[in-house]
Formats: sequence, C-alpha cells, structure tokens
Amino acid sequence: MIPAAGSGQRMGAGYNKLFLELEGKPILIHTLDVFEQDPNCVGMIIAVKEVERLQIVEMLERFSITKVQALVEGGSERQYSVVSCISAYDSEGIVLVHDAARPFIHRQTINELVKSANANGAAVAGVKSKDTMKLVANGTIKETVDREKLWVIQTPQAFRYEILKDAAMKAQLDGFFGTDESMLVERLGLPVKMVESTYDNVKMTTQEDLVFGEILLRRRR
Ligand code: C5P
Repeated sequence: MIPAAGSGQRMGAGYNKLFLELEGKPILIHTLDVFEQDPNCVGMIIAVKEVERLQIVEMLERFSITKVQALVEGGSERQYSVVSCISAYDSEGIVLVHDAARPFIHRQTINELVKSANANGAAVAGVKSKDTMKLVANGTIKETVDREKLWVIQTPQAFRYEILKDAAMKAQLDGFFGTDESMLVERLGLPVKMVESTYDNVKMTTQEDLVFGEILLRRRR
C-alpha cells in the first residue's frame, strides 16, 4: 500500500514532488520499481489525488509497472490515504505500507519486515539515532535521552492485514490521528517489532534530499 497523494509543499516544486525525476525517472516510479522487481510482492495499491490519476496511469505504462491492482483516491491527510488503500484490499496475508517518497528502500529490509510481521503481527523499519538526543521545553534542555533506546522511524511498516485493518478502523472511529500506522497498532496494546533499516532509506522531502538521492543512485549504479 503506497500513499502517493501528498502535495510535497516542503519540496517547493509547485507540484507533487513524486513527479520530480532522479536520473530521468520520477521518484514515484523509483519506489514502485522496488516492489515491481520483488518476486514476493503480489500487488500494489496506490493512493493518488484524483487530479493526478491520469498522469500516474501514463507513468505506470511508460515505465512498465504492472503490479498495480488499484489506484484509490487519497485523502487530505496521509492516514486517510492509507485507509483508502486498506478499504480496497480484500485478501489476507502480510501488507506493507510504504511512503512513495522513499525510493531507496532495500529489498533485504522488506524481507526482514515481512518475516517479522509474519511471526509477530507487526514490524516497522527504522534506524538508531546517530546524534545525541535531548528533550527540550521552552528552549531549555530538560533531559538528555538515552539514544540507545531511540529509533528514527521509517516506512515500510508491515502488518498482518487484519491487525492493520482493525487498528485503522478503530482510529477512524475514535477520531485518532497517528503520524504512522504503527501508532494505530500500538494504541491497541499490540506489540510492534523494530527492524533495523538503513540510513539511506530517506524520505524525499526537501531540495537537499534530491541532491543526496542523485548521489546515492550514481553510487549504486
Ligand atoms: O508529506 P510526506 O512526504 O511526509 O508524505 C509521506 C507520503 O504520504 C508521501 O508519499 C505522500 O505522497 C503521501 N501522502 C498521501 N496523502 C496525504 C499526504 C501524504 O498519500 N494526504
């Protein structure tokens, strides 16, 4: 499940940042390609803005992305977009939610997430904080937090489908907003496992990320 219906305002492109190209290919396509090439991925559901649907359909054809099962209508918040994807799915098994704006995810991380979600119900990708972390209130440090216990959370986030569905529906009912899917599952009291990911799984958010993305692609090539 790939939410791709954001506006990408922090990128300042004036249009959906996922259409920006890295080495001649839109960011969205770089992301979808990872799952297109993954033999374990049986299909993708993408949340899109209605006004961008046609452009995205054309992109999928142009870059031979064949595993997309549905393009659903995204919402005003990322969580709504993910709920749209969930509503369009009617099977079982493990589902992954992955931001379209993270094109550098490694197949190995995906495999570990799937394995962990199979065994435990829910697992998310993340990295340990590299920097010293402080708790700050009103511009003053309250506490230096033990960084060994702090993780920076990314996507993909992997779930047994019924767990994700229950958590999302409960959040909708309660009017609860989370910044990721894991929060919705955590509030049900269910365990969510951490899978160590890589620092290059960055979200393309600002202009600097594009520079980093170009360098990363060149190095990988
Ligand atoms: O804005 P940000 O990069 O944090 O969004 C993460 C992902 O969620 C992006 O792939 C974006 O397209 C998607 N999104 C969405 N619907 C929204 C907001 C964001 O599908 N309303």
